[in-house]
Amino acid sequence: MTDTEHTTALVTGANRGLGRRFAEALVARGAKVYAAARRPETIDIPGVVPIQLDITDPESVRRAAEQATDVTVVINNAGVSTRAGLLDGTLEDIRLEMDTHYFGTLAVTRAFVPVIERNGGGAILNVLSVLSWLHPPTSGAYSAAKAAGWAMTDALRAELAPRGIHVAALHVGFMDTDMVSYIPADQKTDPAVVAELALDGLFAGQPEILADELTRNVKAQLSAAPA
Ligand SMILES: NC(=O)c1ccc[n+]([C@@H]2O[C@H](COP(=O)([O-])OP(=O)(O)OC[C@H]3O[C@@H](n4cnc5c(N)ncnc54)[C@H](OP(=O)(O)O)[C@@H]3O)[C@@H](O)[C@H]2O)c1
Repeated sequence: MTDTEHTTALVTGANRGLGRRFAEALVARGAKVYAAARRPETIDIPGVVPIQLDITDPESVRRAAEQATDVTVVINNAGVSTRAGLLDGTLEDIRLEMDTHYFGTLAVTRAFVPVIERNGGGAILNVLSVLSWLHPPTSGAYSAAKAAGWAMTDALRAELAPRGIHVAALHVGFMDTDMVSYIPADQKTDPAVVAELALDGLFAGQPEILADELTRNVKAQLSAAPA
C-alpha cells in the first residue's frame, strides 16, 4: 500500500513524543488522521481528529473502534517506561509495562483488525525498540514487554497477511522524547526523522524497520552467544 492520500490512520499516544510526530507526518502526507490520546484535550495538532483512547482500558478501546470506522492504518505507538528491574521493581510497574506494550497493543489490534478488513485491508505498525533484542537488567520489565511485542508482531504478520493487512515493526534506539529525558541529547535521534523513516518503510511493505545504527548492530548480533 503506497497511496497515503487515501489512508485513514489512527495513531495511539499521539499527544506527544513520537506519536505526535507520526500524526504530523501522516497529515503532511495527505492522510486522514485520528490522533488518539488518553486525554484528547491535550491534542493540538492541526488537521487531525482527536479521539479518546487508553489502550489498557477495554471500554475505551471498544469505543474508539466504534467511532473510527474508516481506519485503514493503525500505528501502535503508545508506551511507558517505568525502568523497573525484574527483581527490585514493583510488580505493579512490571505489570504496567506488559499491560501497555503487550496487552494494550494487542487489544487495539484486535479491535481494529475487523475495521481495517471492512475497509478493504491496510496496515499495522507496532512501535518496538532496540530493547526488544537487548535486555539490560536496568530495563528488565520494559525489555521483556518489548520482546513480547516482537513475538506478537511476527505472529500477527503471518496471520494477517492473507487477510490483506500488512504488519510491521519499528525497532529504534534512543529518541529525543520525554521517555528518555535523562539521556544526553547527542545520544538521541529526532523522533520526526524516525516517524518519516518508519512511514516510508511501512508503506513500502517492509516487515521490520530498523531506525538507527545501534538497532541494526544489535539485530545483526542476535545469533551470537549471550554476553
Ligand atoms: N524515546 C525512546 O528513546 C524510545 C526508544 C524506543 C522505543 N520507544 C517507544 O516509542 C513509543 C513512543 O514513546 P515516546 O518516546 O514518544 O514516549 P513519550 O514521549 O513518553 O510518550 C508516550 C506516549 O504514550 C502514551 N501512553 C502511555 N500509556 C498509554 C495508554 N495506556 N493509553 C494511551 N496512551 C498511552 C502517552 O500518553 P500520556 O501523555 O497520556 O501519558 C504518550 O502520548 C513507545 O512505544 C516507546 O516504548 C521510545
